[in-house]
Amino acid sequence: MIKKAVIPAAGWGTRFLPITKAVPKEMLPIIDKPALSYIVEEAVNSGIEEILIIISTNKGAISSYFERNSDLEAFLAEKNKLNDIELIKHTSYGAKIFYTIQEEQLGLGHAVLQAEKFVGNEPFAVLLGDDVYVSKTEPALKQLINAYNEKKSTILGTLEVPDSDTKLYGICIPKDNTSKPIVELKGVVEKPQGKAPSNSAISGRYVLTPRIFELLKNQTRGAGGEIQLTDSILRLMDSEKVYSMDMQGKRYDIGSKIGYIEAIIDFALEREDLSQDLTNLLINKLKD
Ligand code: UTP
Repeated sequence: MIKKAVIPAAGWGTRFLPITKAVPKEMLPIIDKPALSYIVEEAVNSGIEEILIIISTNKGAISSYFERNSDLEAFLAEKNKLNDIELIKHTSYGAKIFYTIQEEQLGLGHAVLQAEKFVGNEPFAVLLGDDVYVSKTEPALKQLINAYNEKKSTILGTLEVPDSDTKLYGICIPKDNTSKPIVELKGVVEKPQGKAPSNSAISGRYVLTPRIFELLKNQTRGAGGEIQLTDSILRLMDSEKVYSMDMQGKRYDIGSKIGYIEAIIDFALEREDLSQDLTNLLINKLKD
């Protein structure tokens, strides 16, 4: 059973400067909850009990959000705002949340390496702090955990992307005689600049075996001068099978401005208290 998850949230978030100078992008609100909250909720709904969030030195806002705030609880109790107390008490959805600081932003692979002690010798999940999934069936991570339980080997969550976008992702190279839904891989390549080997993009969710840490420790810098998780996953293929699986659901890349705006609109349209007003507002705006 996969019970531990790692959420890397220590990047600089340069695509969202200047706000990310003070607020981590994972804490940007999708209406009234930070993006990170939806990711923690997905992890818990997938059976995860312990979560390590990788933070940078200036990311105190993240721990403040998940910890209890007794002053605020007392203030709300005095005002008899019991619903609000419930809202602020359950921000971690019952998971145990831990934090580790990534001292230098050397890349996603380096961020995951900070989780070695927390993970120990068991398979674990990774959820990127800027990819939010909404699924009408099972949560995206649960879909991957089911696949892990079948194959007992590393699984990368993927989405099909158009040719024009392959240069933005880690891209999978499937083995010749393998087929969907669980695809065995013969390679992966980070942000291919020329023609990509497939359109299957690694998209923010992973189930990894602990062997990855040995490889991350001596991983040389790759694309963008960063220690890339994808490069270590490629080397992992020398010693174990690695699979990919398309996740069912809608993904919001909240690390990009347009993805973030789309998330806010879609989430609001799903909410009873906002849907009608937002619909009217959008119709009126588009008329102008
Ligand atoms: P990104 O490359 O999307 O994040 O990393 P970034 O570097 O913060 O963003 P931009 O491109 O400058 O706008 C994917 C995830 O990995 C984390 C990020 O926080 C994000 O959730 N990450 C990235 C780390 O934790 N540490 C790193 O050194 C790099």
